[in-house]
Amino acid sequence: MPFTPDSELDLLFPAEYISQEVRSQLHPDLHIRPLASTDYKRGHLNILSVLTVVSDPGEEAWRAQFNMFREIQKTYYSIVIVDKPSDRIVAVGTVFIERKFLRGLGSVGHIEDIAVDKSQQGKKLGLRIIQALTGISENSGCYKTILNCSDANIPFYQKCGYEKKENEMVSDIDLSLVFCGLTFYLPP
Ligand SMILES: CC(C)(COP(=O)(O)OP(=O)(O)OC[C@H]1O[C@@H](n2cnc3c(N)ncnc32)[C@H](O)[C@@H]1OP(=O)(O)O)[C@@H](O)C(=O)NCCC(=O)NCCS
Repeated sequence: MPFTPDSELDLLFPAEYISQEVRSQLHPDLHIRPLASTDYKRGHLNILSVLTVVSDPGEEAWRAQFNMFREIQKTYYSIVIVDKPSDRIVAVGTVFIERKFLRGLGSVGHIEDIAVDKSQQGKKLGLRIIQALTGISENSGCYKTILNCSDANIPFYQKCGYEKKENEMVSDIDLSLVFCGLTFYLPP
């Protein structure tokens, strides 16, 4: 499939939100841009499966999720790096902007779902994704940008300028109940 320029795509948010400095540091065969409405076909879910188990909801449901991200304005910023010769996605990441009542109605950026295709790891694509997302978070006025990761990935995030602070707590849902259609939520 030939490379599709941004002008022919339906993007999640304006491409200019991604720093020019990050763009200029990529190999000429690579292009960084917001997620596009047709990226299901460019292997978006395949790349996420590098990170965790991904079930395929089908293209229609994928696109409905894309539209939902876009309707909630100024909140979800998912980006991709595309290999231009194949027009396939090789790296992905998202920053989600959480709005608060504290800190003068401040915001926090949450970096999520970072993944680089196995064949492209070690070429600084992960670093470029984190730099681009951190820039979006900062330009959105967030007073901090945070993320969760495994111990094995701490050195990677340190190389990206992040430092270890505090702990993560989790309450995992019982998946057997989800698959039976019985899901329960903790009361607020
Ligand atoms: C973790 C991941 C995103 C890193 O992306 P990458 O493109 O391979 O990493 P980069 O090439 O950008 O690495 C940047 C720097 O971090 C270092 N680094 C990367 N992963 C590392 C690791 N696990 N341990 C130590 N250092 C690491 C690199 O050596 C490089 O250092 P340098 O600047 O001194 O050369 C990628 O390996 C990946 O997709 N892993 C599987 C999914 C995953 O774990 N995602 C993160 C979820 S929190």
